[in-house]
This record gives sequence, C-alpha cells and structure tokens, in this order.
Amino acid sequence: MSQVSFDEPSRTFLLTTPASSYALRIGADDSPRHVHWGAPLTLGQAAALPTHDGVTSSFASTGGEELAVEGGARFGVPSLLVRYADGSRGIEWVHEAHEIDGGRLDLMLRDRHYPLGCTLHYAVHPDSDVVERSLTLHHLGTDDEGDEPVEILRCDAASWSVPAASGVRLSHTVGEWSGETKLRRTEAPCAETVFTSRRGVSGHFGNPWVMVDAGDADEGHGEVWSMVLAWSGSWRITAQRDHTGGPFTVTGGAGHDGLAWRLQPGEIHRTPVFAGQFSRDGFGAASRGWHRYVAGHVLALPDEPRPVVYNSWEATGWDVTPQGQRALAQRAAELGVELFVVDDGWFGQRTSDRAGLGDWHPNPERFPHGLGPLVEEVRGLGMRFGLWVEPEMTNPDSDLYREHPDWVLHMPHRRRTELRNQLVLNFARPEVTEWAFTWLDRLVSEHAIDFLKWDMNRALTEAGWPGHPDGERLWTDHTRGVYGVLDRLRRAHPGLRIEGCAGGGGRADLGMLARTDQIWISDNTDADDRIAIQHGYSQVYPARTMSAWATDSPNPHTRRSTPLRYRFHVAMAGALGIGGDLSRWTAPELAEARELVALYKEIRPVVQFGEQYRLDDAVQYRAGEKVVVIAWGRDRALRLADLHGVYVDDGTGEEHYAATLLTHGLPLRLPAGDRPSTVVRLTRR
Ligand code: DGJ
Repeated sequence: MSQVSFDEPSRTFLLTTPASSYALRIGADDSPRHVHWGAPLTLGQAAALPTHDGVTSSFASTGGEELAVEGGARFGVPSLLVRYADGSRGIEWVHEAHEIDGGRLDLMLRDRHYPLGCTLHYAVHPDSDVVERSLTLHHLGTDDEGDEPVEILRCDAASWSVPAASGVRLSHTVGEWSGETKLRRTEAPCAETVFTSRRGVSGHFGNPWVMVDAGDADEGHGEVWSMVLAWSGSWRITAQRDHTGGPFTVTGGAGHDGLAWRLQPGEIHRTPVFAGQFSRDGFGAASRGWHRYVAGHVLALPDEPRPVVYNSWEATGWDVTPQGQRALAQRAAELGVELFVVDDGWFGQRTSDRAGLGDWHPNPERFPHGLGPLVEEVRGLGMRFGLWVEPEMTNPDSDLYREHPDWVLHMPHRRRTELRNQLVLNFARPEVTEWAFTWLDRLVSEHAIDFLKWDMNRALTEAGWPGHPDGERLWTDHTRGVYGVLDRLRRAHPGLRIEGCAGGGGRADLGMLARTDQIWISDNTDADDRIAIQHGYSQVYPARTMSAWATDSPNPHTRRSTPLRYRFHVAMAGALGIGGDLSRWTAPELAEARELVALYKEIRPVVQFGEQYRLDDAVQYRAGEKVVVIAWGRDRALRLADLHGVYVDDGTGEEHYAATLLTHGLPLRLPAGDRPSTVVRLTRR
C-alpha cells in the first residue's frame, strides 16, 4: 500500500502508517484543511469526509487548518504570523503544486500577493506511526527588484488537529532543576494553553511534547494523540480548546512569544520537525511507538550498547586531581565499569564555578603533564576515557572573556546577568562556533577522547547581538550553532560518543538525541526521586538514552539513605552508570556493586533494546524471548504485560504461563527491609 496517496477530484491526500491514517485536503480557498488523524482509512473513505470550513458564525471560527494563519475570519492562534513592509498582515494562500515521493509529501503554497512561499512537509516511515511535519518558508523576492524583508512573528512547524471528544485531557511534564520530567495529566481548559520555554534551551520546566486523550486512556488502553517537537532551544506549543466542540488543535514550533525576525529576499527558513503519532492502545503503546521512532529515525547509533559509565562529579566536585581520579578509576575498573568520565574542574582556573569556563586546556597546577598520563592509565585499566565540557559558556574570570568580551550575549545599556557566575557565548556567531569546533576537535584528537559530556548550565538572558541588524535571530541560530558544532565533531570523530546535559535534564529532546547518544536527565540521583523523573522521561524517550547513576548513601542532594541494591536497580532501568565516591565504599559494598554491574551487563540488551512496559512500581522490558522486570515497593504478585506462551525464571528455574503472569501476576518475593527491590529475568520456553 502506498504511504502517500492523492484523490484528485476532492484534492485529498492520505498518509498511511502501519496502524493509522492522516488525511488533509486543499480547501476551496486553497488553504490546506485537516480531514482525519486516527484509525486507518482508505483514500476513498478519507475523500468522502467533510471538511471543516472553520467559520461557524460572523464572530467565531474553529480550527481544522493544517497551518493556521492570520487573515479572513480566523480568530484562533496563528501558527504562522507575518507582517509585510507595507503594514499588511496575514496570508491568503494559492496552492501551487504538490510532490509525492515514497513516504514524503510536499505541499507548495504561496501568498496571493506578497512574495512569500511556504512548503508544508509531511513524512511517514513504513515501520512507525509517527508523522513528521515541518515547513519551509521562502522569500520569493530579490534585493535587485527592491523587495522588502518579511517580518516573522511566529513560525511554528505544524498545527495538529485532534478529533473533539467529550473530554480532552492533556499529558505533559513539569519540572525544575533536580526534579525534571514529572508527568502531569489535566483536563484541557476551554482556552488557549501554552507550554513554553523562554530560556533558550528546551528546559527543565516542561519538555517539548504533549499527549492528548479523551480522559479515558491508561497505560494499556485508549486512543492517544501525541506530538513531540524536535528542538533544543526556546519553544512554544499552544493547545486550543473551543467549548463548541470544534477540533482540538495543537500548534508548535521553535521560538517564544515576543520574538520577531526578518526573512530576507531570497532567504529560505526551515523549521524543526513537530512530529505526531496516533496510538490505539494507551500511553504505554504511545511511548513504545516513540521509542521505536527514536531508535529507527533519530539516534545515530541506536544498536550500540551504551557503556557502563563512571563519572567523578559527585565524588570530587571541583576537587579534580590526577591522584584522586586515578584512585577512583582503579576502583571503577574493578567493578566492571567500561567508560571513565572526568567531570567539571579539569581545565583552566576551574577550581570552583567562579572561573575558567572558556579556557579549555588542562589546569596547569593540577595536570602539569597534561591529561595524557591519566588517559593512558584509564585505558590501561581497560576502560574508555571521557571528559566534561561546557562549550557555550564562559566565566567573566577567564582568559577567553578577557580577550573576547563581545562574544557573549549582551545588550547595550543592560547589565550582563550572571547565573552560576557565567555568561552565554553567542553560538549564532560563526567565529564563536569556529573557535568551539577548533578546540573541541583538538582536545578530542590529542587524546583520542572517546566520550564528551556536553553540558549547558544556564538560561539565556540579555540575548542581544549588538551591531547585528536582526539580532533576535540568535534565539534560533544559537541552537543551530550548537547543532552545527556537534554534527561537525561527530563527522570528524566517528568513534566519539556524546552525552547531552544542561544542568541535568535541561535539554532532553529529539534535537539533542539526533546528535548525542544519551542524555543526563537529572542532577538528582536519589533513587526515590529518580523513579518519577525516569517515568516522565520514558513517556517519549527510550531507556538506552537515559543515563542513570547509582551514587552514595546518604544521597548528596537529598541526604536520604537508601540500600545500595535499590540504588542500582533503579539506575539499571536505563543506561547504568556509577557516580558515587568509590573511595568511601566498603569492601562488601564494592563486592555487591561488582555483582550488580555484572547483572546489568546480562540484562542490558533487553533493557536497552527491548520494548518497555511501565507497570505498577516496576518496569518490564521484552526483547525476543527474553523478559526483564525491575520492581520495587511492597512484596506482591506483579501483573506483567503483553506475553505469550510459557516463561522460565532464569534465576529459579520456575515455569510460568504467560496467561497467569498477565492475570494473577509474577510473585516477586521481595525481601523484607528498607526499600526492597528485585530484578527478575524470564526466558520464553
Ligand atoms: C551540571 C551537570 O548536570 C552535573 O552532572 C555536573 O556535570 C555539573 N554541571 C558540573 O558543573
């Protein structure tokens, strides 16, 4: 069956995925209208559906457009908002052409009068129900003919329409530093609800996605429409619900309210992707659909097992010395760690957060012979070597800032707000990204560095670019600059792996996952708190990308004491790492940790590459014949999900019918004591 088909008489397009259909139509006024998003339909069925013309009275209009614009009797939120040099606003579309190529559809539109072209892009893949949408704006004029720039006040990637139902519930995440991705489900108000980040990163406070259901879906049942933006800078997703029961619309893209920039004659602007997925079997199936999509179409190296990392940040803080790192590396190697990462504090005058950012050479007092000897020792212990960097930042107390004070974001007559004693380098400036690529390239080459943790520890403020005629572009171009350096670095060093980080999980999104291998999702490593953070992260992002460390007890952030085994079990639900001060772990603790690392290596293929099911105080992973269950909480029989046949418990040899595991549950036999937890491995007979 073709993935994209077209019915000429009704001008209807149908996109077909394995378990859903998406249909749109060129309306009588040439603007693209939404027809269907949900269960599979044939082209004939889609073509026979009516279109919302939007206008219900002389004061009201409802949604139903593929890309709402301003103009005519439209009163909702425009996805594309422009102002022309003569003061006119709005858009009147002429449909020019379309192109279908396999799973891709491009719909070319232009304004009836002004030199503005717009192509709506749609793409579907044979192995996913995700529909990718984005758009390209094209200024069709030229300077020679004296055409004026077009002011862009908002340019979303797409607007999605969800069929109206009796209830409309929104799922999304809220958060903060050290408490990211907390899942929230709330009835959508009959109003405009804006989810946004104005911080220049996708942010701790909300992650750029929403899911919509009729209030009746749960992990295993119900229709869910989810929309995820692939962007790592400021963003905005606006959901609109109309009490008259018109379609529920969700428009989203890069940028935030109040920003404007000018599209120059001849210029082309491409938005990031705002992808959507319809699922029939609840939030669990929606998440598994996103996990498969991220693995199949976002990550560069989805099939490569993520290594067991040791990171020294919580152990040493700023107190980084070759002796201290060496001692930690020896213990880490004995535990079975595969990659040793030196965090902040190895460079410039970086002995606290007050100085050194920007001076990317080993601290001469701490590393008088450079990093070479430590790298060699780590390699000699059989581990790979990684380093922390924060390329977008500088401390005012740094040689870089003294030399280039103009490289940071700033505005005339405004103070330069320091957060964590640092300022943001303007990555929209080519000379800044060139500088960053040059030192990163040299650093990675000099020591054949295997892994970088790319951090970003503050929001953008005074985001100005004095002297630039259109400075607000930097809100998008900074992010593009970061993408450019990451892409170039990966091309230059195919062996390099990268972890994305922004003060924990402040930049966890599909844009970063297209350029990094994993994400540090929170600075909070307390296992109790992590369970909720990991639950929220897993709504869209797969376990293999979720860096999770077992650290010390009491936890350095929360002072909460928890058993070692429980800390490991919770971290084993993603890409396991260790971040504790191993110099203080006792011999029995080290021995237990060694066993737990060995166990993780056994279950890693199932956890990292399997299908994930969120259960009650437990997570189940299934890959082929293998099942892994990580469970905590009270002792009970845990009902598992989506199994068939007969399973053998790899630990006890006990046999279980899938039918009883699904109905009566797996007896967990959790030990007594504080925070009992377990890992159960099953194999299908
Ligand atoms: C914030 C990160 O999330 C931490 O893991 C650590 O790398 C610090 N920055 C270092 O400054």
